[in-house]
Amino acid sequence: MKEIKLFKKSKINAEIEVVPDKSITHRAIMLASLASGDCVIKNFLSSADCYSTINAFRNLGVSITDTENELLIKGTGINCLKNPTAQIDAENSGTTARLLSGILAGQNFVSTIVGDESLSKRPMKRIIEPLRQMNVEISAVEDNYLPMTIKGNPFLKPLLYNSKISSAQVKSCILFAGMFADGITTYKEPILSRDHTERMMKYLNLPIEIKNKKISLKGPVKKIEPFEIEIPNDPSSASYFIALALLLENSNIIIKNVCINPTRIGFINVLIKMGAKITFLNQRILYNEPVADVLVKSSRLRSIKLNKEDVPSTIDEIPLLATVATQAVGVTEIRDAKELRLKESDRIKTICSQLTEMGAKIIEQEDGMIIMGGTKLKPSKVNSFNDHRIAMSLAVASSVVDGKTVLLNPDCVKISFPNFWELFKSV
Ligand code: S3P
Repeated sequence: MKEIKLFKKSKINAEIEVVPDKSITHRAIMLASLASGDCVIKNFLSSADCYSTINAFRNLGVSITDTENELLIKGTGINCLKNPTAQIDAENSGTTARLLSGILAGQNFVSTIVGDESLSKRPMKRIIEPLRQMNVEISAVEDNYLPMTIKGNPFLKPLLYNSKISSAQVKSCILFAGMFADGITTYKEPILSRDHTERMMKYLNLPIEIKNKKISLKGPVKKIEPFEIEIPNDPSSASYFIALALLLENSNIIIKNVCINPTRIGFINVLIKMGAKITFLNQRILYNEPVADVLVKSSRLRSIKLNKEDVPSTIDEIPLLATVATQAVGVTEIRDAKELRLKESDRIKTICSQLTEMGAKIIEQEDGMIIMGGTKLKPSKVNSFNDHRIAMSLAVASSVVDGKTVLLNPDCVKISFPNFWELFKSV
């Protein structure tokens, strides 16, 4: 088993750039593949998850050329994907599997999506049920897991869907399927989840309307004009360096060109409430997404109670928030975050067990965790369980340990942040 040795860090003084945004890259590849002509995606995320989407569309007959930081995609037109020659392998990527399903739902062929061990344990019922209501025939293992076979139907029924969960993957799947329906498809969710699909559809002039938490798309969409887009950098990837600068004394960091979409920066807002010194510089709009350079200074943090409303915009950063909370003053409580058990690993279990291994005092709850602050973390051997966000959260934890931390399975960072270890060591 591969491992990496990590040591205590001293102060940071740096200006860095993290990788491009994963969620926006997936969506840009998908919509470009359906456009009527050549599209250019600048500053795309060249990571394993995004390659799952790129290879899926190559398998569906789309020509995609990748250079170091640009993709040239020759869109086939909305109804012209080709019957895949093989099963579509979404590998580790939930976003690929769930969003692509909405597109396959409207094609005139049958296709099967498979995934790796982790993805094959993640629920698909959340998209199967609404797609069936749109008249798509779908079969899946236990009606919930990959492999999942979708019999496409180019004449989908529009849907009015009241989702019980706030999931951008479910929302995007339904909006994508709505492009193939004859009429208005409407999606409502309890708390607004990340809204990159809606923003990109607006940027592409697709007939989408948003009123409060109600999103409507008028189908059928006949044509997506070819487009060019530049992806801002990923706030989730930036979060590890934000946390490092906060925890290490006398530190300063500027992270350039970060997407500061309000549905993504719950982590930053929660940290500010905890006493963090974080400022947005040079704010601007890039292709309908707000972007800024993020300035972070080391800060003394207080504990917090995370509210239900905070969870969707913080979801991928909760393992990191738990890590940071071990160093804050007071007891932090994270509740209403049961969704975390359904991610690349059961993130409630993995982060609680691994931080406990490092000497943290955390009580696992069914829907979250309670974290005692001000604990001294100790040298230990921990495991990422092949979950990229757990690996990077534990890296941040190791930076305050007097001594050595050994992390097993560090290579999973390739899923969202291929150069994470180089950047982590360089700051
Ligand atoms: C994502 C949505 C979130 C997030 C995932 C990426 C997306 O999942 O956890 O990492 O790109 O739409 P859910 O929408 O299922 O909560």
